[in-house]
Amino acid sequence: MRLDKFLSDCGFGTRSQIKKDIKAGQVTVNGQQALKPEQQVDETKDRICCTGRPCVYEKYVYYMLHKPAGVVSATRDDREKTVLDLLGNERKAGLFPVGRLDKDTEGLLLITDDGALSHRLLSPARHVEKEYECCLAYPIDEEQKTRLEQGVNIGDKALTKPAVVCILNEKKVTLTITEGRFHQIKRMLHAVGNEVVYLKRLRMGGLTLDGNLAKGSYRRLTQEEINLLSE
Ligand code: URA
Repeated sequence: MRLDKFLSDCGFGTRSQIKKDIKAGQVTVNGQQALKPEQQVDETKDRICCTGRPCVYEKYVYYMLHKPAGVVSATRDDREKTVLDLLGNERKAGLFPVGRLDKDTEGLLLITDDGALSHRLLSPARHVEKEYECCLAYPIDEEQKTRLEQGVNIGDKALTKPAVVCILNEKKVTLTITEGRFHQIKRMLHAVGNEVVYLKRLRMGGLTLDGNLAKGSYRRLTQEEINLLSE
């Protein structure tokens, strides 16, 4: 691949910044100063350094974001702040959130440029678990719990798939679902006669929200976490 593409994929700035760095003699390939942005490199073998820093090539990037309320799960929006706006100075080209959380929902959101992984995680056929913490307007009772566990009519053609419900206290539950219908959790609780007043996603498949990640902040996934998602 071209040297300038390699460096931009590694997060070393825009192509024009990278061109300047190459011209300024700041980029080396296997210890030799690089001369042209179009120089071909082998990302699996060549040792490339830019402004003194070694470049590690990653085909895709994966961020765990602790989404706060008040931002929309979109790549761009004319009026609202988006989850990508929270990524600071990172390279944003090609990045998108995997699935959507409502504007007022908080918690785990995966942001990546890996379309195949996103497709697998969102595919209805794969039944990937999504676990949510829900604060409720009214105390949950056994009948509501049982209905959620059996599947409820939320006005779609089919009932929802059975949820796993864990009561934390009378107005707080965790709900684990394997679908991703529009406003699903809020509609499920509404359908059984309750209302969600606060919603936070805790887990998606094998990926759990990092308890040390403050609301609105993000970090790269570890290789172990990427592997867990791919399983
Ligand atoms: N279910 C909802 O109702 N809202 C979300 O943001 C996610 C799941």
